Amino acid sequence: MKFLWFRCDIIITSTALAVAVIAVALAGFLIKKELDDSDNTERHCRMTDEALSSLERFKSENHTAFVLGYSGEVGKALVEELNQLKVFKRVVLIGRRQVPLSVGPEFEQRVVDFENLDDHKDAFKDLDMGFCCLGTTRGKSGVPGFIRVDHDYVLLSAEIAKAHSCKHFSLVSSQGANKNSSFLYPRTKGQVEEALKVMHFDRLSIYRPGLLMVDRQESRPMEATLRTLLRPVSYFFPTAVTTPVKVMALAMINNGMVAGDKVEVYDNKAIHQLSGISKGCPMKRSASAPESTKTK
Ligand SMILES: NC(=O)c1ccc[n+]([C@@H]2O[C@H](COP(=O)([O-])OP(=O)(O)OC[C@H]3O[C@@H](n4cnc5c(N)ncnc54)[C@H](OP(=O)(O)O)[C@@H]3O)[C@@H](O)[C@H]2O)c1
Ligand SMILES: *[C@@H]1O[C@H](CO)[C@@H](O)[C@H](O)[C@H]1NC(C)=O
Ligand SMILES: *[C@@H]1O[C@H](CO)[C@@H](O)[C@H](O)[C@H]1NC(C)=O
Repeated sequence: MKFLWFRCDIIITSTALAVAVIAVALAGFLIKKELDDSDNTERHCRMTDEALSSLERFKSENHTAFVLGYSGEVGKALVEELNQLKVFKRVVLIGRRQVPLSVGPEFEQRVVDFENLDDHKDAFKDLDMGFCCLGTTRGKSGVPGFIRVDHDYVLLSAEIAKAHSCKHFSLVSSQGANKNSSFLYPRTKGQVEEALKVMHFDRLSIYRPGLLMVDRQESRPMEATLRTLLRPVSYFFPTAVTTPVKVMALAMINNGMVAGDKVEVYDNKAIHQLSGISKGCPMKRSASAPESTKTK
């Protein structure tokens, strides 16, 4: 009995110790992630400032855009922000079904059959910017279905858009995208990114968000569990591993309003910086008053 108690002591102590070590390591990882800059912090934060000040000019240039995947979580957030900001003169929402939306008259829904997209080429006509938020899951569509949507539909759309007038294509990809990965999801994302790069848009912006934070209507138990676990993490370390859909949407809009490189890949930190509503830019920047409100 005595011996057993003794053993229990060791087990309990060592378990507590292991838990503590893991917790410390996890906290260290998150703190590092949170404090790390993106590859180009200075530039992204400057672009965001620029976007704020060029809003009126951009509006006066009568730009037009299309949104793919506008019935999805990122897509819905994007449409909402576009409707608030009114940056485009015309926005065509291209999708497989009509959805009820209360948006301004500059929006138009176009229902297309992605399996016969060539028959719907005119949906992409005269639109200079494209936002792609298409995607499905392996669970929902199976492996071939996932590749068909997340890879093929994206490229088929991009090709038609490019042949028309699309100058700037934006893709919501994912953290970890890598064409060499042995896992389907990051590999497919990496492959679609690579294929877009060789299409030579005037500008291509690839976004790699972390876990999207949104109250998803559709049931995805695994994702929901992860989201619940990461909610406190997202609160204390907002830019480390999570991306609210509004942050994702605003990053794409801001970046679309300013000049940028031909091909750019934005990691999660860069997305937060570009959004203008999240942390990630040096303090002094967000504290400084905009140019127009400065006196003298
Ligand atoms: N979930 C995450 O945490 C996470 C993290 C990083 C990156 N991402 C990526 O971010 C992107 C956007 O994610 P999300 O959560 O906003 O996606 P979502 O809510 O699942 O929406 C996907 C969109 O794609 C459309 N779509 C799906 N299958 C289609 C098909 N067969 N034909 C035509 N349209 C189809 C959907 O249309 P319907 O409404 O008609 O189905 C919807 O508009 C995805 O590429 C995803 O992989 C997600
Ligand atoms: C944008 O549209 C407005 C109203 O339709 C027009 O007055 C203006 O000249 C246009 N601007 C450009 C740059 O085409
Ligand atoms: C993929 O593999 C190729 C060839 O081995 C290599 O050159 C490339 O850097 C790798 N790409 C990534 C994203 O890891």
